[in-house]
Amino acid sequence: MNEQEIHPVFRQLGECSIASVVTIDSPGHAVSLARALLAGGVSAMELTLRSARAPECLRRIVEEVPGMLAGAGTILSEEQVREVLEAGAAFGVAPGANKNVLQAARDQGLPFVPGIATPSDIELALDFDCRVLKFFPAEAMGGLRYLENVASPYRHLGVRYVPLGGVGPGNLVSYISSPDVLAVGGSWLAPRDLVEKEDWGAIEQLARQAVELVKGATE
Ligand code: 3PG
Repeated sequence: MNEQEIHPVFRQLGECSIASVVTIDSPGHAVSLARALLAGGVSAMELTLRSARAPECLRRIVEEVPGMLAGAGTILSEEQVREVLEAGAAFGVAPGANKNVLQAARDQGLPFVPGIATPSDIELALDFDCRVLKFFPAEAMGGLRYLENVASPYRHLGVRYVPLGGVGPGNLVSYISSPDVLAVGGSWLAPRDLVEKEDWGAIEQLARQAVELVKGATE
């Protein structure tokens, strides 16, 4: 499988370069947060299912912020695959490679990014035709050096990674400069305290700063 065969949603994610990982507790914040990120140039989000209201937040963003590529994260069960598809998720993400979830995502047609940390995880994900994988927890596992080593035997299959976990302004340039990396992401763009304070201007600024860093690295 080569790059051309990457799902169109993942091609779009690659064009975005940065995905903001957010846990939104209040559906009233969802649209403003998505608009702030978009105003700063970040056009992909992963809404984690660590909040009970996440599906509702996702639905609102899908309906009201069409420029945002909105996916769901922390998908841990088959039921959650169905739930996020119903809410309009463009893609799904998980911290690990769980067979039941991989099967459900494939059966139900959800473009899915399972989490991987080892060669065995990568091979399980490949068994379910996943080619875009979340490298998690990126920094704790050894960062880019570890990723490039673990990616090496599977590079000819067109596998690309989204490093998450400990990624931020201090290291995103090195990650995004690697050909193994499709996009980077993390929670630093929308810290919970700024969301709670509804400080959309600060979030827009964080997004703009990240986009500038990526531009500097890729131009
Ligand atoms: C997660 O799923 O929590 C993400 O990987 C975000 O990690 P971060 O908070 O270190 O950015």
